[in-house]
Amino acid sequence: MSTMTAPELHPDLQNFLSKGPHQLLIGGKRQDAASGRSFEAFNPATGEAIAKVSEGAAEDVDRAVKAARAALSGPWGKMTPAERERVLHKLADLVEKNAEALAQLESLNNGKTIREAKSGDVPLSVALLRYYGGWPTKIHGETTPVSVPYYPGAKFLHYTVREPIGVVGAIIPWNFPLLMAVERLAPVLACGNTIVLKPAEQTPLSALRLGELCLEAGVPEGVVNVVPGFGPTAGAALAAHPDVDKITFTGSTETGREIVKASAGNLKKLSLELGGKSPNIVFADADLEAAAKGMFMGIFYNQGQTCSAGSRVFVERSKFDELVNALAEKAKTIRQGPGLDPKTHMGPLVSQEQKDRVLKYIEHGKTEGAKLLAGGEAAPGKGYFVKPTVFSDVKDSMKIAREEIFGPVVAVMPFDNVEEVVTRANDTPFGLVAGVWTKDIKKAHRLTQQLKAGVVWVNCYQFVDAAAPWGGYKQSGYGREKGQYAIEEYTQVKSVWVDLN
Ligand code: NAI
Ligand code: MG
Repeated sequence: MSTMTAPELHPDLQNFLSKGPHQLLIGGKRQDAASGRSFEAFNPATGEAIAKVSEGAAEDVDRAVKAARAALSGPWGKMTPAERERVLHKLADLVEKNAEALAQLESLNNGKTIREAKSGDVPLSVALLRYYGGWPTKIHGETTPVSVPYYPGAKFLHYTVREPIGVVGAIIPWNFPLLMAVERLAPVLACGNTIVLKPAEQTPLSALRLGELCLEAGVPEGVVNVVPGFGPTAGAALAAHPDVDKITFTGSTETGREIVKASAGNLKKLSLELGGKSPNIVFADADLEAAAKGMFMGIFYNQGQTCSAGSRVFVERSKFDELVNALAEKAKTIRQGPGLDPKTHMGPLVSQEQKDRVLKYIEHGKTEGAKLLAGGEAAPGKGYFVKPTVFSDVKDSMKIAREEIFGPVVAVMPFDNVEEVVTRANDTPFGLVAGVWTKDIKKAHRLTQQLKAGVVWVNCYQFVDAAAPWGGYKQSGYGREKGQYAIEEYTQVKSVWVDLN
């Protein structure tokens, strides 16, 4: 582990941190939780508390939902689409202007490297705001040539209108705190809805800062409400609230099921982006250098804490030893340290809980008889570090090959032919993403058709874009974020008939 040569925190970030305790944002006002309680946010590189945050629960969620409901018929509801575009673009400019401080905040609170925060999380957030900033003036319905067979000679004008859904509750995880918040907020606002955002308890800070920037950008009060708190209290209250029209959720499949149950009361709409156990398939005829990089990035990006982690790597047998050994050797060279240290390659996991969870899976791998080629333990010192871990001799039935680990742990397995690898790749309750590495274009496209996943990458891995839809097959969830698909998720269609007879 490297010792930290900490850069000075950006003055804006120092200023933000010094303003604690960080209150809830409801109806455009910062306020304490109704219970008066607060909780601490940590720096996972040291385990030290960095900020106190008001702890929202059911009563606060209720206040936030009321504010969001009221805001629908306030100035926000009266804005023209062009005015909503201007607000989103202003917000994009503000996030961009604050890029350095926001990237540092993400790194400090989540543990991710400053390099990844600056090249990924923050610019993608800006891109999402600009992409959805273009949508409000383009969300239109259609005219429909209706026939009405039981009404001879019928003459009707029929058209559809896309209207906002109303109050959206967003429950998001801790692995990309700012990016996930923006990914929801941008289309939600583009479509004219209002939002109650419940960031993860581990990483509440950048969402609160985003809430401030929304007000600065001219988003009217009550349109964006931010209520940090814990899952079983704040999260569950939002999921069950009778006046929330839709929940968008990213997180574990287990919590996803709870949210489905909680939605039953008022049948609120849902989109769920859940876990994954994604196959990354390397054929012997691939560009092996590129594939090796893809295997590495696929599992180790963001400390392996991505829903799209390529955690099951299948390598065609003739190249298996070569590639698995190269991956293990490269894993051993990863320099772990605080994310804010520019020399760091890989930061800590987000929490003690996540570190314990990942270490438990590593123990399962060892006791079930997988062969450990790299890592396999916590890194010494303070903070929630787990060494990048590579297992070979993994059987498809082992826990480490079946369950989402959400850490820097990869299972690498050989395969012999196409049919076999497709069957094994699809033999999982999940279906978020898949990777295919081959120079054979027919084989590549046959696999893109056969793999049961919401996203398939050919000769690349871990690419995302504001315009490209994202979401899962099977138990990786339903609904799509990003692109025009999110516009459909955050609007509802009205069918209008006008009698011209
Ligand atoms: P989680 O799914 O429990 O938490 C995600 C969000 O849901 C947080 O904001 C949390 O406060 C909220 N939440 C928790 N319980 C809730 C409930 N009953 N009702 C409403 N909201 C609730 O995930 P957790 O516990 O942080 O991590 C556990 C595992 O979940 C990870 O090891 C990983 O496998 C998976 N996960 C997947 C993510 C993804 O990107 N698909 C992101 C985070 C976790
Ligand atoms: Mg949980």
